[in-house]
Amino acid sequence: MPAVTDRSLPEGMAWDGIGVLIAQHRQVAAIWERLEGSAGIIPDDRRWAMSAELLKRLSIHDGVEEVYLYPMVRSALLEGDELADQAQASHHEQARRLSVLEGLGPEDPGFEVGWAELMAEVSRHVTMEEREIFPRLLQSVDRLTLTLLAGRIQRASRVGPTRPHPRMHQSRLLGRATAPVIGAMDRLKDATRSRPTEGAGEPSESTRP
Ligand SMILES: [Fe+2]
Repeated sequence: MPAVTDRSLPEGMAWDGIGVLIAQHRQVAAIWERLEGSAGIIPDDRRWAMSAELLKRLSIHDGVEEVYLYPMVRSALLEGDELADQAQASHHEQARRLSVLEGLGPEDPGFEVGWAELMAEVSRHVTMEEREIFPRLLQSVDRLTLTLLAGRIQRASRVGPTRPHPRMHQSRLLGRATAPVIGAMDRLKDATRSRPTEGAGEPSESTRP
């Protein structure tokens, strides 16, 4: 798997908070493009590494949006509550599906269809954010705030949760205070279970989660 860096900003996008979130969307899509339909073509240990990287990146992205994006959407947009409610319901559904996939490897029944269903939900969510939420934020929020948001998202991406927490999403307990604590626990688990790390491509050994 090619290293997907956090600096893969789409052409023409400003390096602000919205640009960083769109870059994260593109990174997830790039990994899925390789994983989808790869059974029998790519070895299972590499497919497991890709699925683990997807799970991690989706969990990190969901966490930073919960902590930084949706509070901004609620406060800055007239219809912000409605849009944030819709997006957070999708996050809860994604976290629920991810928590099932966390225990599955490529050889397990349910892996293929589970990932396909999850990524269909992710695709709907990304479309909604990029068409409904981001353009409105770019019109309503000043440039400095959006630039500062980029730094906050990058810092939160380094310390936030790397695993799905559907109950946290449901009860909205994932906040600025709790995310780093949950993230530290996740990263400890990641280290002890030899999961792939960001940008590392395939792990040295294909230890299952
Ligand atoms: Fe997003």
